[in-house]
Amino acid sequence: MKTLFSGIQPSGVPTIGNYIGALKQFVDIQNDYDCYFCIVDQHAITVPQDKAALRKNIRSLAALYLASGLDPDKITLFIQSEVPAHAQAGWMLTTISTIGELERMTQFKDKAKDRKEGIPAGLLTYPPLMAADILLYSTDLVPVGEDQKQHLELTRDLAARFNQRYNDIFTMPEIRMPKVGGRVMSLQEPTKKMSKSDTNTKGFISLLDTPSAVAKKIKSAVTDSDGTVKYDKEHKPGVSNLLSIYSIITETPISDLEAKYDGKGYGEFKSDLADVMVTFITQFQEKYNYYMESPELDAILDRGAERASLKANKMLKKMENAMGLGRKRK
Ligand code: TYM
Repeated sequence: MKTLFSGIQPSGVPTIGNYIGALKQFVDIQNDYDCYFCIVDQHAITVPQDKAALRKNIRSLAALYLASGLDPDKITLFIQSEVPAHAQAGWMLTTISTIGELERMTQFKDKAKDRKEGIPAGLLTYPPLMAADILLYSTDLVPVGEDQKQHLELTRDLAARFNQRYNDIFTMPEIRMPKVGGRVMSLQEPTKKMSKSDTNTKGFISLLDTPSAVAKKIKSAVTDSDGTVKYDKEHKPGVSNLLSIYSIITETPISDLEAKYDGKGYGEFKSDLADVMVTFITQFQEKYNYYMESPELDAILDRGAERASLKANKMLKKMENAMGLGRKRK
């Protein structure tokens, strides 16, 4: 069976963008791969975090993964910092990365420009740690949203460099992005990515928003003055974004939705989408609350860390041998 790996940062509560770009994809293909899903807390600390909030978000993210419909008996769910091989392998891959290629990462440039008190070095070395996450598991497939494409390309570059320079040990991972919804946009500025760190909270739907807040956010989403429910990303980014969300959540092709709302106004379209989202969020949060209250959650994470360590430590040893670290016993 081929291997799949993906991760989400426990920095704030995931949005419907994270759900569509990542979690929904995970659930759709969980039966076809040996799946490793990671709560990447060491990536989260590349920008300052409040320690109590971080702890809370880590646990909450574990419950969110499961509430999405991942089967804990089939997949491996774990916390990155509980498998030290990630940081160790991340360091080794940092040594074969160049500052030039790391500085070219758009996510680095975006995040670095917001830092008034100096740019944390970890923001720059974030991608080799992400490469370590992926390469430690001989990953074949990485399902992510569009914004991670550049990081995936760098991961492949680092794998090829290591294989060529030291020893051919890494599998070349492929990226998988959703056909629709690879980039869910802000509800208020539909030319900008929906982000959990947006200061305008009306721009995103968090997976833990109350149903009434969700309905309000959909109803106040920015559209246009044209009045037709048609998918046209360039000229109608707001309506196209809502259509994508509607399509994914209800698993209905966009063309069917366009036909359904032909000749109808935005009012009816938004009101139906608000109902769809309220139903989705309510059911989702029921499962989330179940896992948050259940002792099962810790058992799943313990088991996950154990299974992940077993696999990751084997690759770490191969990396150390390839680079000549440590010693060979007499
Ligand atoms: P993160 O935590 O920012 O986002 C988690 C996942 O959600 C996707 N995503 C979106 N998809 C569609 N529309 C959006 N508006 C949107 N916003 C976020 C992201 O593409 C991602 O798939 N670097 C990663 C975490 C990571 C990782 C890994 C991922 C660390 N190691 C190894 C895969 C494999 C990140 O910051 O994701």
